[in-house]
Amino acid sequence: MDSYRINLPADGIPRKWYNVVGDVPDALTPPLHPGTRQPAGPEDLAPIFPANLIEQEMCSDRWVDIPEEILQVLALWRPTPLHRARRLEEALGTPAHIYYKNESVSPAGSHKPNTAVAQAYYNKVAGVKRISTETGAGQWGSALAFGTGLFGLECMVYMVRVSFEQKPYRKSLMHTWGANVLPSPTDQTNAGRKIREEMPDTPGSLGMAISEAVEDAATREDTKYALGSVLNHVLLHQTVTGLEAKQQFEMAGESPDVVIGCVGGGSNFAGFAFPFVPDKLAGQDIKMIGVEPESCPTMTRGEYRYDYGDTEKMTPLLKMHTLGHTFVPPKIHSGGLRYHGMAPLVSALVDKNIIEAQKRHQIACFEAAVQFARTEGIVPAPESSHAIRVAIDEALECKKTGEPKVIGFLLSGHGHFDMSAYDAFFADKLEDYVYPEEAIAKAMKTVPNV
Ligand SMILES: Cc1ncc(COP(=O)(O)O)c(C=O)c1O
Repeated sequence: MDSYRINLPADGIPRKWYNVVGDVPDALTPPLHPGTRQPAGPEDLAPIFPANLIEQEMCSDRWVDIPEEILQVLALWRPTPLHRARRLEEALGTPAHIYYKNESVSPAGSHKPNTAVAQAYYNKVAGVKRISTETGAGQWGSALAFGTGLFGLECMVYMVRVSFEQKPYRKSLMHTWGANVLPSPTDQTNAGRKIREEMPDTPGSLGMAISEAVEDAATREDTKYALGSVLNHVLLHQTVTGLEAKQQFEMAGESPDVVIGCVGGGSNFAGFAFPFVPDKLAGQDIKMIGVEPESCPTMTRGEYRYDYGDTEKMTPLLKMHTLGHTFVPPKIHSGGLRYHGMAPLVSALVDKNIIEAQKRHQIACFEAAVQFARTEGIVPAPESSHAIRVAIDEALECKKTGEPKVIGFLLSGHGHFDMSAYDAFFADKLEDYVYPEEAIAKAMKTVPNV
């Protein structure tokens, strides 16, 4: 029975986060001030982030200690299990060994609390009273509501309107943990009012919600802003998953040939894959695949250059793969993967060919999700289904070649709040959507030449 689920002992939670910048120093590119377009210093970021997180953002140490207070909260659900997906392997008839790291067991149902708890703690220590943020699918908002609640902070969530309407229970969850939630764009901020005037029917986007949350933090003394992905410190906090998985693969006597994660802003994939980068740099043959939707193809069809993180050009410019900050993705159900940009560290590693980007259509992803649910039992989040699709595709390739590869993927969350998307899939109401080249070209025209 043990070979189905590999558990670490309770004290198996890593005591340090792994920082990939320690091994790939030139992956660290400076953010630029949105006004002057010169490298932004800590003082430029101070209106929206506390000093301790700014320091982490710019840190190049290979290892960073995890404070005891954070470990105590992570211990509510960590270490998470690594499962061997034997029933899925059997259903596919593949010689491959498929493993998944199960982040769906966290209180909010995804990997997001790994950084929400850490960010709430660092803000608390810095004397911050209230945190503003945006959320797409609602996973990040609920994770931050949980984290801030535990550390006694107020939480204000700007939730992308289309998700707010599609996922009323994510909102209820955030309320239960004590957060305030509004559908974005709102009429509460200058950015929101401006967008509503220009685009009265907009479904909203992460870029818009970020503008609102940043404005909220920048205009209030008691408030700082928190981002659930993209930034270096967020990716750092997520490395607990990859570090645990490495120990678990060792316990199983295996070493992954392929590691896979879905990619929105890049945090769950980076957290899982980056701890394997030193092995790859040392010559081990590990394929690392980040999977994005065809309808939001940031790495596979975007450009690697400086762009704003939000629609209203309030954030610093980041060097990243981007589809243009004015990009409004179609209403596909993988709400958490609808962002125009990509984590600068993930982008840099794609640029260096250390990691590889792939894209998939949503219907093929839902097919994979249903096959996974019917073999392994867990109903995955639509975002996670992108990783499952590629894991299955890799395993089917092994079936053709006869290679018994070891394939590991991160199950970033469960889909219990996404059942309307499953209903739409079963009713044949989902459509595959390829973002038109002209729309990308139009949004790219707004990207500054830096
Ligand atoms: C379950 C789940 N997986 C993946 C993502 C994508 O984010 P990231 O690429 O930062 O992991 C999200 C974002 O909301 C999510 O909710």
